[in-house]
Amino acid sequence: MIILFLLVSVLSIAQNTKEINILAGQPDKQISPNMWGIFFEDINFAADGGIYAELVKNRSFEFTNPTMAWKEIEKGGAIGTILVQNRGALFQENPRYASVTVKPSAGTYILSNEGFRGMGIKANNQYEFSVLAKRTSGDLEFSIQVVSEKGEVIGAAKVNGFNQDWNKLTASFTSANTDPKAHLELVFKGSGTLDMDMVSLFPKETWRGRPGGLRKDLVQLLADLKPGFVRFPGGCIVEGKDLVNRYQWKNTVGPIEKRKLIMNRWNVEFKAPRDAPDYFQSYGLGFFEYFQLAEDLGSEPLPILNCGMACQFNSSEVVAMDQLDPYIQDALDLIEFANGSVNTKWGALRAEMGHPAPFNLKMMGVGNEQWDPQYVERYKAFAKVLKAKYPEVKLVTSSGPFSDGEMFNYLSAEMKSLHADIVDEHYYRSPEWFFQNSSRYDNYDRNGPQIFAGEYAAHSKDGKDPESRNTWYSALSEAAFMTGLERNADMVRMASYAPLLAHVDAWQWRPDLIWFDNLTSIGTPNYHVQKLFSNNKGTYSVPALTNGKVLNGLDSVYASAVVDSGKNELIVKVVNIASVSKNYSLNIQGKKLNGPINCTIISSSEKFVYNDLHAPSKVVPVDKSISASKGKVNLDLQPMSLNVIHIPLKK
Ligand code: AHR
Repeated sequence: MIILFLLVSVLSIAQNTKEINILAGQPDKQISPNMWGIFFEDINFAADGGIYAELVKNRSFEFTNPTMAWKEIEKGGAIGTILVQNRGALFQENPRYASVTVKPSAGTYILSNEGFRGMGIKANNQYEFSVLAKRTSGDLEFSIQVVSEKGEVIGAAKVNGFNQDWNKLTASFTSANTDPKAHLELVFKGSGTLDMDMVSLFPKETWRGRPGGLRKDLVQLLADLKPGFVRFPGGCIVEGKDLVNRYQWKNTVGPIEKRKLIMNRWNVEFKAPRDAPDYFQSYGLGFFEYFQLAEDLGSEPLPILNCGMACQFNSSEVVAMDQLDPYIQDALDLIEFANGSVNTKWGALRAEMGHPAPFNLKMMGVGNEQWDPQYVERYKAFAKVLKAKYPEVKLVTSSGPFSDGEMFNYLSAEMKSLHADIVDEHYYRSPEWFFQNSSRYDNYDRNGPQIFAGEYAAHSKDGKDPESRNTWYSALSEAAFMTGLERNADMVRMASYAPLLAHVDAWQWRPDLIWFDNLTSIGTPNYHVQKLFSNNKGTYSVPALTNGKVLNGLDSVYASAVVDSGKNELIVKVVNIASVSKNYSLNIQGKKLNGPINCTIISSSEKFVYNDLHAPSKVVPVDKSISASKGKVNLDLQPMSLNVIHIPLKK
């Protein structure tokens, strides 16, 4: 009886087990070595207040309100004033500085800086303070202290060397305690007047230990993605709300005190605590640092330049065609900055900044998310000049902000007829759209431009997830969609989730790949999906078929397969979007298996679960080994799961 029952069970499992035939010996599409990359934009405090580790906000008194973020404290009857002086044309990139006058008195005059929603300070870490200062009268000087949210002094240092010339003065201290919302105080002593500019505080510990560098934990999260490219600096900030506020790369290179700050496109009038009327771009993270970051991460740099058009969701301002030359010149000069010899003007600046070797720029975007005929007209003018001088640099062009519709169709057709190199497509759509569009590129015209899926993220605004969080369901839908990108890797050469980073206290857009506060950072489920695809991109794809058909939603299952020729490994990705588990078996054809098989799984039975700073590991990958016999690998696909199966192959 028992034997009969077991036999029936085994037979019924066998009947319910479906096969995915992996034609491992049939190379299909070459996968671009820079297929999965990152989209960096200074939105949500990603740069200033985020990855750029400067702790002082409005360090150069150049915000629209020049004393924003600064506060005077007059203790015990102290009398002091802060006067913002403007040097105008004499110092046009950074004209303002603060002149502090303290009258003789018994009390203490203090200037405090609030940081970016506070300052993240860590116990036992060293901090480096610097200021450009000049004493114009008296014996006034100051020391510094960092004060926790509760009012405890957790670090202090004396600043020495004030005299009647502008000098860069430095001081450092080791913090006694940790606090995510500390602030900096300049504590004045004596009387007279001191002028000061570029008031700065950095952790000593930065990515690669560079002084004035980047926040280590955040760059590490990016490095762990092994991104194939870094697209920078955006996004809408490339365009600006209007042309005056467009991103101009030349303002972002050279000494930091000469980088001309502007208001960020994502500066938002204060209505809720997370809004950011204090959002400006100091350009401490400028184009040199972006190129350096891409190099550190082993990624191709992909700068996007303004093409004479401001954000079409804002002013839609365009530069007249007969005034476009300076914009095109900026693009030519950028190629010289990145690739030119140290004997050229811009190559020499790169060398002066510490990088004589070229950055090997191979591609550049003309405009961000532009649309309508005015874009085509401007792109043509750029392409004519750039292609004549630098035919080796591929140009990335826009298909507008939407994944389909009139605007998209118009631009796609135009770019095809202009033989554009790479077209950037954006889709911020529902999870259902992502499920349904895993076959989007199966029938794309192979004679048209290559595709860069430059900005995408599943946004759900339904009853269960009205706030478009980084839920597991959104990440699962992206995983299903990405199997389609991988299957069409001949067409889709690059892809990046957007936006990349968001500060929990100052964000303008959600969902985002990585969330952080002033001290910690976490990967969302979407991050883990991106990481699994990017870390397992392979060299070429091979067919993964059930009954001769690709799996793009059939039986709620999506699959793609690649071979990593370096490791001689077959990597199969299978996504089960159903709320029940499924038995599948991989039937490996054309190659023999070699050694133990490992499967990395991300799953959750809860659709709307997400990771946050307090619970960062609700949805994370787990590894398990799985069995195989006679070329068949048994898969027990958990409900709502992404499974990445590593199968070593015999040579
Ligand atoms: O990723 C956020 C924004 O979405 C980008 O700045 C823009 O390109 C798109 O509209």
